[in-house]
Amino acid sequence: MTTTAPEHSAPTVREADRADLLAIYRIEEASFDQPWPFTAFQSYLGEPGFLVAEDGTVVGYVVADVIDTHGRDLGHIKDLAVHAPRRGEGIGTMLLTRGLDVLEDEGVESVKLEVRESNESALRLYRDHEFEHRRTLPGYYSDGEDALVLVRRL
Ligand SMILES: CC(C)(COP(=O)(O)OP(=O)(O)OC[C@H]1O[C@@H](n2cnc3c(N)ncnc32)[C@H](O)[C@@H]1OP(=O)(O)O)[C@@H](O)C(=O)NCCC(=O)NCCS
Repeated sequence: MTTTAPEHSAPTVREADRADLLAIYRIEEASFDQPWPFTAFQSYLGEPGFLVAEDGTVVGYVVADVIDTHGRDLGHIKDLAVHAPRRGEGIGTMLLTRGLDVLEDEGVESVKLEVRESNESALRLYRDHEFEHRRTLPGYYSDGEDALVLVRRL
């Protein structure tokens, strides 16, 4: 008898809704040492840049919004994660691309994000999407790790 890896249909990306929050929060908790609190996700419900990828269950999410920096609108990728067993299938790429589309529709010209300097898979994903290292925030994370600020134009 042979065993085969589980087959998954291709996920679709849509706006997050309240029924997704628990699944999102579980992925967040499993993905980060310092996860966002549940209430943070609640506060982004209804925002066009709060998106989930799902194929029956939620397999990843992105939170993208527009912030005012020195009087200019700037896109901000605030959070992005994919359920660990589903990484490497292109879901992170799909979510990032759609998040950037939302920010472009909102009229921003540049997008920034912060990422741990040790987070190689995320760094590769962002570099593949034309993000460039703009500056370093020393000790940005509570365990003392530096954050890299990456920026790209839309
Ligand atoms: C970063 C993350 C969202 C990527 O999601 P993903 O669905 O695995 O990404 P994709 O399958 O679309 O892969 C995108 C690119 O990421 C890179 N990548 C993905 N998995 C990787 C791994 N295990 N090691 C190194 N690079 C990896 C590759 O460059 C890949 O491009 P390729 O397919 O052309 O090789 C996912 O790893 C994750 O949830 N990590 C934990 C949470 C996190 O760190 N979020 C980012 C915070 S800034």
